[in-house]
Amino acid sequence: MSNRPRLLSGITPTGKMHLGHWVGAIENWVNLQNDFDCFYLLANKHAFTTRANQPAEIRASVMDLATDLLACGIDPSKSALFIQSEVPCIDELTFFLSMLLPFNRVMRNPTLAEEIRDKGLGDHYPFGFPLYAVGQCADILAFRPDVVPVGEDQVPHLELCREVTRKFNVTYCGVDSHARDEDHARLGGVFPVIRPRIGRVKRLVGLGAPSAETGQLLKMSKSLNNAIYFDDEPGEIEKKIRGMYTDPKRLRATDPGETDAGKNPLWAMHEAFNSDVAWVESHKAQYAAGQVGDVVIKKKLIEVIETLVSPIRERRRHYAARPGDVLDALKLGTARANVVAEETLSLAKAAMKQDYFGRVVELR
Ligand code: TRP
Repeated sequence: MSNRPRLLSGITPTGKMHLGHWVGAIENWVNLQNDFDCFYLLANKHAFTTRANQPAEIRASVMDLATDLLACGIDPSKSALFIQSEVPCIDELTFFLSMLLPFNRVMRNPTLAEEIRDKGLGDHYPFGFPLYAVGQCADILAFRPDVVPVGEDQVPHLELCREVTRKFNVTYCGVDSHARDEDHARLGGVFPVIRPRIGRVKRLVGLGAPSAETGQLLKMSKSLNNAIYFDDEPGEIEKKIRGMYTDPKRLRATDPGETDAGKNPLWAMHEAFNSDVAWVESHKAQYAAGQVGDVVIKKKLIEVIETLVSPIRERRRHYAARPGDVLDALKLGTARANVVAEETLSLAKAAMKQDYFGRVVELR
């Protein structure tokens, strides 16, 4: 086993990966592979919270996402890319953790509240919907990670995880309830109190116009039809960028006190993807002064995005033609995930005095 610090993160398979996923998390996932022993979870059970009647689509999304991740450079010989539902410990831990969290505390989670609102779930969501937030605590804790890199929207889930960790360690491991978070492990807690680590770009905006209600640009997402995907052909990327919204009162883009991202996705995209900071700054000034127009800035953006996407698109094609290889990578990762998660569950069960028998989990 590796002695590098351990890292856990996850993503819900909702369809193909877009540039928002890349800057929000995946770029980070790829870069962290050398410094951490990485476990990357495909949260297929979370997909059932809103799509329980679409099992085939969920399966296709899992394969699509795994294909995207391998194409982006997640290396199965370094990192464990694994399927949530094939790691039974996660479910078992979820049940025990759910007993330590007041129901009302789970429902107060702002990420859940937002999802209920944005997806129009009203009071029709299934019992499993709030349960998934507890499940996410188990996703994390099963790996006792040192680091959990996530997008900003996941912070409330991580806060719930921190709370249930303290509760577990205090209730079952004799950790003092006033112990500092960083001391829990040393004091005998089974679980470390994790700290989130947020991606470089917290929320990438989509290509469309601002919301009529709020005046703010909307985030890049599949359902809003404002995204660029890693299997978009060059012509498609060009078309999307040429057609993207730009602030008609262009000067506002660089008004002091107004964030570019709030007004003009063209500059938000450059800031997120164009590593030539000097180019971005000088052209922003020229743009504000009316010396350069949308066409030039869009042309450069097309170039920048195509440079990022092109090698990934190539590798994606390779894996998309070899679903057997993708499944092999997932199996390898899932087997490794089970080793760590089983070890964690034994420790947790021992702490809870429910360690009656040993067992092994074996994939076939
Ligand atoms: N809820 C996360 C998302 O929607 C995915 C996820 C599931 C996750 N389990 C996790 C993220 C554990 C970090 C840690 O993208």
